[in-house]
Amino acid sequence: MNEPHIWWYITRASALIAWALMTMSVLWGILLSTRVMRRIDNPAWLQDLHRYLGGLTLFMVALHMVSLMLDGWLQFSLAETLVPFATDFKPLAVALGIVSFYILLAVQGTSLFMNRLPRKFWKGVHYSSYAALLLVALHAGWSGTDVSSWWYRVLAIVLISVATIAVLVRIITGTKTGSARPVAREEPPSISAQAAPARTASHDTRTMVVSTLQEVAQGVLAIRLLPLGGVQLPVWHPGSHVTLHLPNGLQRQYSLCGDPAERTHFDIAVLKTEQSEGGSEWIHANLSPGMTLEVSGPLNHFELEPANEYLFIAGGIGITPIKAMIESLPERRKWKLVYAGRSRSTMAFLDELVERYPDRVTVHASDEAKKPLDVFALTKSATSQVYCCGPESLMATVSEYVPADRMHLERFVALERESASPAQPIEVTCRKSKKSFVVDADETILEALEENGLPVLGSCKKGVCGTCEVRVVEGKPIHLDSVMDDAEKDRLKVMYPCVSRAEGGKLVLDL
Ligand code: FES
Repeated sequence: MNEPHIWWYITRASALIAWALMTMSVLWGILLSTRVMRRIDNPAWLQDLHRYLGGLTLFMVALHMVSLMLDGWLQFSLAETLVPFATDFKPLAVALGIVSFYILLAVQGTSLFMNRLPRKFWKGVHYSSYAALLLVALHAGWSGTDVSSWWYRVLAIVLISVATIAVLVRIITGTKTGSARPVAREEPPSISAQAAPARTASHDTRTMVVSTLQEVAQGVLAIRLLPLGGVQLPVWHPGSHVTLHLPNGLQRQYSLCGDPAERTHFDIAVLKTEQSEGGSEWIHANLSPGMTLEVSGPLNHFELEPANEYLFIAGGIGITPIKAMIESLPERRKWKLVYAGRSRSTMAFLDELVERYPDRVTVHASDEAKKPLDVFALTKSATSQVYCCGPESLMATVSEYVPADRMHLERFVALERESASPAQPIEVTCRKSKKSFVVDADETILEALEENGLPVLGSCKKGVCGTCEVRVVEGKPIHLDSVMDDAEKDRLKVMYPCVSRAEGGKLVLDL
């Protein structure tokens, strides 16, 4: 380091490299979230690259800050490097850079713990990287000493153009659908309008045409639905479900089981259940190609979180959301599927899955197996994220062996949950609408909301589908639904008013 200006060169070089890396990281993040490269991509390397670029950016920013302090000419102190407006040297420009550093730190830090943080919070912090990129561009333009150089200007134009185009692509291609639920459930007809759900995707209802119907297993119909006019469907992610509004007045939720990259149609599969309350029975008896149906969603409460390794356990028709998850994964991602059913003839998509993934799919057909599925053996040494969907008995058994932080369940029948004490009246305040009312002990919060002119879209009214999700501002809900873990609901500050109550008789909702 005999060169007197070495730190000055390092300061400039690290700043430019950090800017370029940050732009690439944001670009890669957008490619991941919009899935525009799904057909040629491999999300494994895209995801890894996104992470590495973010980490490298932070390293380069740290180098930039250290070299500023070591540079004998500028001689930034630690406080001037870390505290906005502590320096006399271009204070505003430097402050913008410092703020963008803290945003970057928050984005990287929360990404390390994304599986433990509320999804909405993590996303909010992650979105702030767009603001950081803008601040960096301003910081570079105001404080960069090479601004008058032609090569610097060309680089700046390229980086700003790439960032702008990427953000526009993100806006145009839409946002990620947030939720997911059931497979094939039977519920009574339901309500009406919509009340801002806390974390979900599309509650839009659109008219769709039944394109094809195909029996893919004994009692299971695969149905393809096309939007009228051939418009592009909203972006959705594996685990999502849609609600069919049947002509007989019933609403039913079905998991999307196709490739999430396909935006031209929805694929679902419907099992004709023995105890049908009129949903699956009607579909099997009446649905035919060319018919139109109103379809809402998709919503998602069964999201596939990023992980290095997955173990999927599907029972019967529970294969539908799992199939969409498998479709979405890159070839190199490690995963295994254990697919259980009464017999091979009743297991939808079995041949296709076994043929495509012979080394990854394990089949357990009860009529040919000599012993019950050994869930303990399957899960005892697993360190992967476990996604399970199927009969309640299967999910209960899997839950016994897999720690809660690696367990992801998709229920399609309500758990029998009761409050420890008899239901009490609840004083409900709706913050946005400034309405307060008392919910009697013998009515649901969902019913009371509708009576008081705040109808919330509901479907199952049994606490299974997740459609009626509302945000809780104050109060402690008594969760009596089966949508997801109670701890997760508390972290997300949501509740399902079709069945849930509140401790202490008071509740403030974000409605
Ligand atoms: S309406 Fe289905 S969870 Fe409330």
